[in-house]
Amino acid sequence: MIIASNFKTNNTRAGTKEYLKKLDNFMNESGSKQKVMVFPPSSALDSFEFSSEIIVGAQNAYPVLNGSFTGEIGLEQIEEFNLKTTLVGHSERRHIFKESQELCSKKFDFFKQNGFEIVYCIGEPQEVRQEGIKSVMKYCEAQLEGIDLTYEKLIIAYEPVWAIGTGLSASIEQIDETLTKLREKIKAPLLYGGSVKVANTREILQIRECDGVLVGTASWDIDTFCQMIAIADEL
Ligand code: PGA
Repeated sequence: MIIASNFKTNNTRAGTKEYLKKLDNFMNESGSKQKVMVFPPSSALDSFEFSSEIIVGAQNAYPVLNGSFTGEIGLEQIEEFNLKTTLVGHSERRHIFKESQELCSKKFDFFKQNGFEIVYCIGEPQEVRQEGIKSVMKYCEAQLEGIDLTYEKLIIAYEPVWAIGTGLSASIEQIDETLTKLREKIKAPLLYGGSVKVANTREILQIRECDGVLVGTASWDIDTFCQMIAIADEL
């Protein structure tokens, strides 16, 4: 299974290094077989050396090699560290930074052309969820517009906006129903994200079409994140 941590705007360069060292130790000692991914803030990206197989990726990048895009990083800044993984379309990018579907699909295309593994995020806001599953699927499908769903390095993260950082995860039934419908069109691994915590990790990972979790808040503590990986190992 895929167990991924999104640091968002948390942790420092030194803190990230320490976190990854502890994670690497845990992966070695536990002999975990999970695919573990970590997305630190861009200021903490580096050429990390692991004795286990931890994947480090960028949370966001502009779809250029380099250029005049103040405040952004491009391919050159990521590839300096030999990183080949990125998130695209996280709801905080879409909602807070007003990233359009056009920009998300441009980013997807650019990083696909450069051979990146892409964790592409989709998910509906509260008012759409209240309208029912048909509206949810319509909303998610619009977020998949222009995305090559056959790309072999694609991972989809279904993250309902109302469940992100709220402590209120989607119900097992809601996740199950949504992932089952997404599975009709997507062969790529499907993750769930949105207030995943130790207490609900097991149940979520046991959902039939769920291939893993993308965790924000609960993953910022290394011990908690390791507990989640250990739960996946038990299944
Ligand atoms: P959360 O964030 O676990 O804090 O809800 C998940 C995410 O945004 O990826």
